[in-house]
Amino acid sequence: MTKNTYTVPKGHYGEITGPIVLIGFGSIGKGTLPLLERHFKFDKNRLVVIDPSEKDRELLDQRGIRLIKQALTHDNYEAVLKPLLRDGKGGTGFCVNLSVDVSSLDVMTLCRSLDAHYIDTVVEPWAGFYFDTKMSNDARTNYALRETLLEEKRNSPGGITAVSCCGANPGMVSWFVKQALLNLAKDLAIPHETPKTREEWGRLMQKVGVKGIHIAERDTQRSKHAKPANNFVNTWSVEGFISEGMQPAELGWGTHEKWMPETGRRHEAGCQAAIYLQQPGANTKVRSWCPTPGAQYGRLVTHNESISIADYFTVGTGNNVEYRPTCHYAYHPCNDAVLSLEEMFGRAGERQPEHHILDENEVIDGIDELGVLLYGHGKNAYWYGSQLSIEETRAIAPYQNATGLQVSSAVIAGMAWALENPKAGIVEADEMDFAACLKWQTPYLGPVKGYYTDWTPLEGRPGLFPEDIDKSDPWQFRNILVR
Ligand SMILES: NC(=O)c1ccc[n+]([C@@H]2O[C@H](COP(=O)([O-])OP(=O)(O)OC[C@H]3O[C@@H](n4cnc5c(N)ncnc54)[C@H](O)[C@@H]3O)[C@@H](O)[C@H]2O)c1
Repeated sequence: MTKNTYTVPKGHYGEITGPIVLIGFGSIGKGTLPLLERHFKFDKNRLVVIDPSEKDRELLDQRGIRLIKQALTHDNYEAVLKPLLRDGKGGTGFCVNLSVDVSSLDVMTLCRSLDAHYIDTVVEPWAGFYFDTKMSNDARTNYALRETLLEEKRNSPGGITAVSCCGANPGMVSWFVKQALLNLAKDLAIPHETPKTREEWGRLMQKVGVKGIHIAERDTQRSKHAKPANNFVNTWSVEGFISEGMQPAELGWGTHEKWMPETGRRHEAGCQAAIYLQQPGANTKVRSWCPTPGAQYGRLVTHNESISIADYFTVGTGNNVEYRPTCHYAYHPCNDAVLSLEEMFGRAGERQPEHHILDENEVIDGIDELGVLLYGHGKNAYWYGSQLSIEETRAIAPYQNATGLQVSSAVIAGMAWALENPKAGIVEADEMDFAACLKWQTPYLGPVKGYYTDWTPLEGRPGLFPEDIDKSDPWQFRNILVR
């Protein structure tokens, strides 16, 4: 056996002077708690957890942390949160929303009105949104959810910092995109300085010739138990994954695209950076690439970052867009989750009666290989990201698997950034200082590396059967989408 050489990260990331309210104590909440304790100074007696489930209450009891066993709803959230965030003992509070079914926008707006910091990992709606059959698919998109955040940002500029969508993805991957772009510019010997503004970042990406970006992930974590029938097994929130997986597939829509699938739709209002497909994202396959498997199928599950990254790197506005990269998720979840999706979609999307999240003790081996694949430039394609293993995860942080640690460490980095930048208003990960955030987070990410590849989605095609492909440009979405 090789000797364990992993280093447990240390270091002071800031002080939280007021109360802390942690909403949701599921796979990410319970992984975030020990990192919070490790890196921030705060008064433990002013930390409260809200969750309707008592599943992991023991971890809180051991620490003397109060659990409010309650589901937040549209009707009760103000009454529950106000006295907790204004507990009369002074300081600036911090609300960390790691739940499902709790409106990010409503809670964030309330926190800012109480002068408390806020962070989440998704723009989450109240319960019922994802499966509301009366809503159009357009209205059920992450594009629509993100537009509500952008509207609040426009209507209420500045003020106390609230960080939107700061997990691994969305979140960390936005920081990876910037680092990857700088690496690429350097390797292609393109003269540049590190951009300081959004406009400059867009111009640099345009100059480097990036046509698009996959958030390219391969989760190889394996359980010691075979997946039982009628049980949806995943390495993070099953509820969260099913919800987003049943939303329409969505992608940031690049200016180089010459073809759109028949199911593709544009939005009537908003930033126009993305389109959606009239089909569930978790049942929409795309061709992509990660270092360990090489070429692979990923799922085009909708994610906030597909839209925010495409929007951030857009050069020009409105009808005068000069450049925009295509951007989307290409997710190969753990094998058990792939089987779970097959089972679920085989029954027309009817979810399994049992749900299970693999914990760090039952995963026998594997890594979560999560990065960004920048493609279509002079060196074809470049993947840059984290290859965190379950072994390293177990050695450096408790109560979570590799997937969880990539998320919880991003939350911690986002909180550190908010404390250093307390009056930045509402921000997305794309707008934060990527280098500072990665400095806080990288000790938790295992190997963080870049890989070039010659692979394109046209490799080996057409094979034995005719295909509708565009040979003039390998990196067209037409070649990437599996049809
Ligand atoms: N950005 C990212 O990289 C990323 C990654 C993983 C998860 N997430 C998101 O983070 C959130 C948490 O993920 P998870 O894996 O911990 O999920 P989980 O399903 O393990 O836990 C969610 C928790 O929320 C609680 N909850 C449910 N309804 C609630 C309510 N009304 N009020 C308060 N709490 C409630 C549940 O009891 C549960 O403990 C989800 O929204 C998920 O989509 C983001």
